[in-house]
Amino acid sequence: MNNNLSNNIRQNFRQRFATEPLIARSPGRVNIIGEHTDYNNGFVLPAAVDKSIYVGISKRDDDKIVLYSEEFGEEHQSTVSTVEPSGKHWPNYVLGVVDQLNKRGYAISGFNLNVDGDVPVGAGLSSSAAVECAVAFALNELFSLNIPKIEIPEIGQKTEHTFAGAMVGIMDPFASVFGKKDHVIKLDCQSLDYEYVPLEIEGYKIVLLNTNVKHSLASSEYNTRRKECEAGVAMIVKAGIDVKSLRDVTIEMLRKYVEPADALIYKRCKYVVEENERLLSACEHLKNGNIEGLGKKMYGSHDGLSKEYEVSCPELDFLVDAVRGNPGVLGARMMGGGFGGCTINIVKEEAIDELVENLSKTYKQAMAKELTAYVAQTADGSSIVA
Ligand code: GLA
Repeated sequence: MNNNLSNNIRQNFRQRFATEPLIARSPGRVNIIGEHTDYNNGFVLPAAVDKSIYVGISKRDDDKIVLYSEEFGEEHQSTVSTVEPSGKHWPNYVLGVVDQLNKRGYAISGFNLNVDGDVPVGAGLSSSAAVECAVAFALNELFSLNIPKIEIPEIGQKTEHTFAGAMVGIMDPFASVFGKKDHVIKLDCQSLDYEYVPLEIEGYKIVLLNTNVKHSLASSEYNTRRKECEAGVAMIVKAGIDVKSLRDVTIEMLRKYVEPADALIYKRCKYVVEENERLLSACEHLKNGNIEGLGKKMYGSHDGLSKEYEVSCPELDFLVDAVRGNPGVLGARMMGGGFGGCTINIVKEEAIDELVENLSKTYKQAMAKELTAYVAQTADGSSIVA
């Protein structure tokens, strides 16, 4: 937890709204392996991290919603009963949650809210899911709504679909709400069954290398990938095979029914089916203490994302290629939706400083951009800050 941030948000709230707020926090996430599998009913292996979004909140006597973003220094107003998407980006992650509560029959009145955080925006750590979950968590507490915990990630996901135009899966809000310190979550996105797996990587750390290329999920490619996967499933269904999603599909089915018809769709679907298999072995490696094995699967994941799923970018590829074969780095891959953001690396503790120093130079020379590095610590999921 970042005490400075939660204290600041409290003080700023008091000054702005002249009343005492309730404070909720919800963290960003990393994902060890299993990318673009969540919306295909597959598996993911995320963990919540020690960077969070904080919101201060209090009830109002009217129907008004008064929002303030500390980061953007901007206010936005709306009303609970007629809530609709705003032309601005950041208020939508709050307003979409209100819309979901309305639709689900959770009764709330107007409220004041301020938001701040230290999850870097556009870095692939899922700051938007963290905002949605912090807001849902805060409203749940403030209005004693008794929302089942499992519904909070769903509210976050639906907010993205309806108010941000990104057809995302469940991984990010799930990790934000259910994260557990020192653990990763092996989540089955089909059943929502999950298992906490201890993240035992003694002598190693998770290092995030930020390309500082901002990605935008709403930027059509994400939604296009989703449609390509659905198209692959539809081809198999058309052949009379009973499959509901890529979760039910095998490589043999893809070879028989998809490859001859559409090479691009085949490539996309093949990546997803193989990524699920990689995740299952990577998870076994983690449980057995075989971190080298886990690292190899991460490189495999990156190659698939880059060459078959085609959601990487030159900056991400540069950073992964630059650590391949480095004895201090066990594995690396791009993380999240793609087209920018961070790579996730498993690095020997004593090798971190030198690696970051060298890479910062070569990255700047090659890409004319700054590299930012951050050692990720796992953390617990959403909470009310006392
Ligand atoms: C984004 C989405 C997630 C997931 C990843 C890719 O982070 O929000 O639902 O699809 O991309 O794995």
